[in-house]
Amino acid sequence: MPNPPIPLILDVDTGVDDAFALMLAARHPDLELRAVTCVAGNAAVDQVVANTLYVLDTAGAREVPVARGAARPLLAPPHDAGHVHGPDGLGGFARPSDRRASSLSAVALLRQELLRAIGAGEKVTLVPLAPQTNIALLLRTYPEVAGGIERIVFMGGSASGGNATAAAEFNVWHDPEAAAIVLAACAELSIPVTMYGLDVFQRVTVDGDDAARLRELPDPAAQLAAALIDQQRALFGLETCRIGDAGAVCAVLDAEGLGVETFPVRVEVAPGLARGQTIVDRRTWTGDHRAQAKHVQGQGMSSYSATPAAPAATVDVALEVDAARYAALWLSAFGV
Ligand code: RIB
Ligand code: CA
Repeated sequence: MPNPPIPLILDVDTGVDDAFALMLAARHPDLELRAVTCVAGNAAVDQVVANTLYVLDTAGAREVPVARGAARPLLAPPHDAGHVHGPDGLGGFARPSDRRASSLSAVALLRQELLRAIGAGEKVTLVPLAPQTNIALLLRTYPEVAGGIERIVFMGGSASGGNATAAAEFNVWHDPEAAAIVLAACAELSIPVTMYGLDVFQRVTVDGDDAARLRELPDPAAQLAAALIDQQRALFGLETCRIGDAGAVCAVLDAEGLGVETFPVRVEVAPGLARGQTIVDRRTWTGDHRAQAKHVQGQGMSSYSATPAAPAATVDVALEVDAARYAALWLSAFGV
């Protein structure tokens, strides 16, 4: 008896690589894409909604509901990534969809789908590929949805330096408070977490030959993917293009292709050069941890700020990836 497809929900800021992730999530037979929620990040949230609808149209996934979420981070001002994804967020290839977004907000759609899963005795894998503003609002507003979450596999953070800044990865940097709240909520609600960060995100690539093969297919999603690959290659002056967020969907499909280690993880929210950094605590001696806890609590402060000491989340941090295996898995969404 084959295993039933894995139910998942993506939270996106589409985004070139969010588009790659949507194509795989919508098409792979071992996945069941239940919903997609949108948040401001790479582009403004209304552009993200339009891009997401369009990409799902090209992938033949017009039945998947799409909902609009937070238009800005919880506290910080928004900073788009138009310099990477283009002013339209889709490399200049954005097109309108004749579909409309759900009348529900992102948090309401997430709540609906997760409570529905609980009612059906199922658990859904939640895949945030963007700033975690929607996810923070969801878990703080409706903690009871935790019973419908199998695991959160998020693209974000890094154990080894940033991209938005020298220290911080873009999704966490864009809304550090949201990322800190999500990690704290996952610790409190016992939601397993995998961090698909820059340490692996930057290694999984496809190239110009792959784009040429995709371009030959009579498949609008393959045509769009090829155009986006070549736009990114030209932008960075490289022969290769990262599949980016799509790697996190690969991690849901094929956990064996990822090497993870479990560490306490915190988010720096204080102003300064390290704001938005994911502090992956790789110290092995518990004596150091005990000493820090005594020091921090002795000051009545948490590692986040002057609030009651919030426990670090225990996170499965991805440090190794079989890049060729994940690139091939992504390309399989187009039958190549
Ligand atoms: O740092 C990379 C992340 O930021 C990706 O999710 C990309 O789409 C942008 O959102
Ligand atoms: Ca993204």
